[in-house]
Amino acid sequence: MGEFVHNITLIKGDGIGPEISDAILKIISAAGVDINWDVQTAGSDVIEKEGVPLPDRVLESVKRNKVALKSPVTTPVGKGFRSVNVQLRKELDLYANLRPCYNLPNVKTRYENVDIVVVRENTEDLYAGIERQVDKDTAESIKIITRKASERIARFAFDYAVKNNRKFVHVVTKANICKLSDGLFLESARNVANDYNIPLKEILVDNCCMQLVQNPNQFDVLLLPNLYGDIVSDLCAGLIGGLGVAQGANIGKDYAVFEPVHGSAPDIAGQDKANPTAMLMSAIEMLNYIGENTAAKKIKLALFKTLENDVKTADLGGNSKCSEFTDAIIKNF
Ligand code: NAI
Repeated sequence: MGEFVHNITLIKGDGIGPEISDAILKIISAAGVDINWDVQTAGSDVIEKEGVPLPDRVLESVKRNKVALKSPVTTPVGKGFRSVNVQLRKELDLYANLRPCYNLPNVKTRYENVDIVVVRENTEDLYAGIERQVDKDTAESIKIITRKASERIARFAFDYAVKNNRKFVHVVTKANICKLSDGLFLESARNVANDYNIPLKEILVDNCCMQLVQNPNQFDVLLLPNLYGDIVSDLCAGLIGGLGVAQGANIGKDYAVFEPVHGSAPDIAGQDKANPTAMLMSAIEMLNYIGENTAAKKIKLALFKTLENDVKTADLGGNSKCSEFTDAIIKNF
């Protein structure tokens, strides 16, 4: 469809990663976009062969191609290697995690007209991975917040708000308790807000969660440090139909990696049950990012038509397999 062949890295992940990746490749190819996929593997299977979960070849591939589509990679809980996802975001300085959250057609949820954009700082906070066992009964984690990273994510949120005609930005912290770290994040947001005509509103994260559940329509853009951003974006996914439909992107100055909010869903892996919508919506944003706007629109319309026709996967109350849902989208072009 476009004039050029695009070189894009594909990280297939594990769990439901490979099945939803294959679905997306099939849809993008059927839409006529010429992409030369540079397929890369990462995660626990790779450790056995290459000694590390995120080999340099993956980072080099993204640096070469500038853009990647990624499906989830499992991280062992409470032990084992550090998250490939967190490492990738840090190594490539993908400082902004952008998660637009809005209702999709015929996906029934408690609320209508939800339209929230979560902007999560992606490189520091408790995700810096600085933890130590002080003694056998005590462990500590260090929460790092810097002015540089906080101002740059605040600027990203406001620039996004301006570009997309959003009305206001909420900065979400726990600055009443973490007075220095969250205090610095809040102060940075206030400083940056002075350069824009868009109002900055302030809210504490606990109250924000309650308000989101009671009345999500009062929110527009949410600006959060890493950990609160992670948690609140899953909450927002719950408002629009669950993790199966929640898209995401990690954006830096030089590179962008598009990936769904959800994880590798080991409970349904390999059963053709996964909903590929979240990854497809992420891929649609990737197509917009590389200038393939016509194809992006065509795929989105076909996805919406498929949902309107009540072809849905089990997580949305339907009875279609991932493969059937994928084929239905292609038929709806
Ligand atoms: P999860 O997001 O994988 O699953 C949570 C629940 O949502 C499960 O019941 C799952 O079946 C369901 N679900 C998720 N995606 C779905 C989809 N596309 N279609 C239908 N149902 C879906 O979260 P969980 O179980 O906490 O994490 C599993 C693994 O994924 C962990 O190792 C975690 O570290 C990793 N993870 C990786 C991420 C990434 O690669 N960016 C992000 C989040 C978690």
